[in-house]
Amino acid sequence: MTTNTIQSTATENRLFTPSVNWSATAAIPDMAAYKALCDEAANDYEGFWARLARENLTWHTPFTQVLDESNAPFYQWFADGRLNASYNCLDRHVEAGRGDKVAIRFESDNGEVTLVTYSNLLSRVNKMANVLKSLGVQKGDRVMIYLPMSIEGVTAMQACARIGAIHSVVFGGFSAKALNDRIVDTGASLIITADEQARGGKNLPLKDNVDEALALGDCESVRHVLVNIRTHGSISFREGFDLHLEPLLARQSDQCEPVWVEAEHPLFILYTSGSTGTPKGVQHSTGGYLLWATQTMKWTFDIKPNDVFWCTADIGWITGHTYVCYGPLSAGATQIVFEGIPTYPNASRFWKMIESHRCSIFHTAPTAIRALNKSSEMDESVHPKNFDLSSLRIMGSVGEPINPEAWMWYYKNVGGERCPIVDTFWQTETGGNMIAPMPAATPLMPGSCTMPLPGIMTAIVDETGHDVENGQGGLLVVKRPWPSMLRNVWGNPQRYKSGYFPEELGGTYYLAGDGAMRYVDTTYFQIMGRIDDILNVSGHRLGTMEVESALVSHHLVAEAAVVGRPDDVSGEAICAFVVLKRTLPKGAEALEIAKELRNWVGQEIGPIAKPKDIRFGDNLPKTRSGKIMRRLLRSIAKGEEISQDTSTLENPAILEQLKQAL
Ligand code: WTA
Repeated sequence: MTTNTIQSTATENRLFTPSVNWSATAAIPDMAAYKALCDEAANDYEGFWARLARENLTWHTPFTQVLDESNAPFYQWFADGRLNASYNCLDRHVEAGRGDKVAIRFESDNGEVTLVTYSNLLSRVNKMANVLKSLGVQKGDRVMIYLPMSIEGVTAMQACARIGAIHSVVFGGFSAKALNDRIVDTGASLIITADEQARGGKNLPLKDNVDEALALGDCESVRHVLVNIRTHGSISFREGFDLHLEPLLARQSDQCEPVWVEAEHPLFILYTSGSTGTPKGVQHSTGGYLLWATQTMKWTFDIKPNDVFWCTADIGWITGHTYVCYGPLSAGATQIVFEGIPTYPNASRFWKMIESHRCSIFHTAPTAIRALNKSSEMDESVHPKNFDLSSLRIMGSVGEPINPEAWMWYYKNVGGERCPIVDTFWQTETGGNMIAPMPAATPLMPGSCTMPLPGIMTAIVDETGHDVENGQGGLLVVKRPWPSMLRNVWGNPQRYKSGYFPEELGGTYYLAGDGAMRYVDTTYFQIMGRIDDILNVSGHRLGTMEVESALVSHHLVAEAAVVGRPDDVSGEAICAFVVLKRTLPKGAEALEIAKELRNWVGQEIGPIAKPKDIRFGDNLPKTRSGKIMRRLLRSIAKGEEISQDTSTLENPAILEQLKQAL
């Protein structure tokens, strides 16, 4: 933990309060309502959460216990209650007479639209759940889902939830190696995939990657691979082991009794990067997770029956779990699910889709906003002003800090200065939004995620766990357990305990891993970025260690160090310093090797992890005790003059060499 590098960056003081004509019907209409909820939580913490859990979810067996802290930090919420997540997302809406409401407006890469009602989605999920059961999948078994953004992707996740199987979705952009790691760690018995995915007019392999992942070994747990045909691309097929999904679905009944699971039963495992070692399997519960997915739809997004909600995140990330698969459906909303990419057929795709679907709540990542801003400056025809975006009423931002310039562009050009921006800070581990404005109530400040949601006890502390003064940087923590927090690191309780509840802070504060500060005058939070070795590239989390291990597994590489540097579009870019097992390459040869290493990392982890810059050196800057001096590498990566003290450096001459960009 290094708080000493965190300094105040506060210069922002503009506040915006768009006057919206829907504030009277908003879930949280004004700051007094927000404050009343915060007070309720402060006065009776368990009573507050119990009320929300009863109001938001339908329980098969009502809970009588709320929070159990007896085995902290392994907290339990609503432990004696039973429910089913897919029942809450589907059946309860159909039973209430809303079966004909559109649940999903799916738009494919090439622009075809398919509407799926709640009744129809329920029968799809039931059929899929019956297929899983027919293959022997039982409560507690792990199922890998390696599917594109699709109706089938959401269906597969819901089908697992229906029978109490634990899904683990792997982003389609991850490599065979990454998939293999996750299969081995979960001991999954089944993989659900597609032949290929269609993105940006190209077909990219999925089933081939699954074959390769299985061939990497240690996958004996896998009994079958279910394949959905999307593109009819050529794939290899092992009869009896690989199974076509469609004919199996056709044979199944569309009725399937949900399995009522304990509130603490794991709903899913989702892998995310940590600062050390391999990605960790973040394990979420059924009851607490679903409660917060549902409640935050109402508070942060003010979801209403007539809204058309669109979160552009992929189901392979936590945002796609909470704000595509579970939150919108549990809240009974209509949502857009999009297969493609924002720049195909051109960079107006998002604006065109908002117009054609009459989208009212649009949620995306800063990296997309920055990229689309740039495109529209280069090509007027893709500027949002050319589209009718009057259906929009709320816009979201998630995954990384949004810089004030991008915020202002989004606010003016997409939201027409009418739509509040909810900048939502949260993490894979937190299950749902933690710090975010309430759209009808909170005055907005560009670049600040403003204040915690009611019931979320965030604070900023120093390295001994004491609160810091407003205006001072420190560690972002959550002082009290909350229902949607992670429950464990799959198979590694020690890593859960030491990584998230460090003894130095007293052992019960959840350590987010981000530095933060509160403004003196507004008490708004400003997130200042990770305090560990996690990078955030286009809103995707990656560990420097992961990229380093991928690099050193290449036969030419002796040693590698990876740091982030600021980037206009992706927020952060990966910069790798590499020592080869041969003489220093020059000119064209160096470029060739750099290209090979980039592709190698792409294969080992996925294209998102390819380093943008690669620099070669005979060595890395190290202290006399052999520790790599990363802060020097960060300065070099940024192109800064080195102002730090280099007196402990063993080999100062190396700095000049590493400054030479390719
Ligand atoms: C960063 C994504 C600033 C932060 C939901 C966090 C943010 C990490 C914001 C989690 C935001 C996410 N402002 N930073 N609004 N949202 N982050 O697990 O560093 O993929 O720790 O979850 O993204 O990334 P993850």
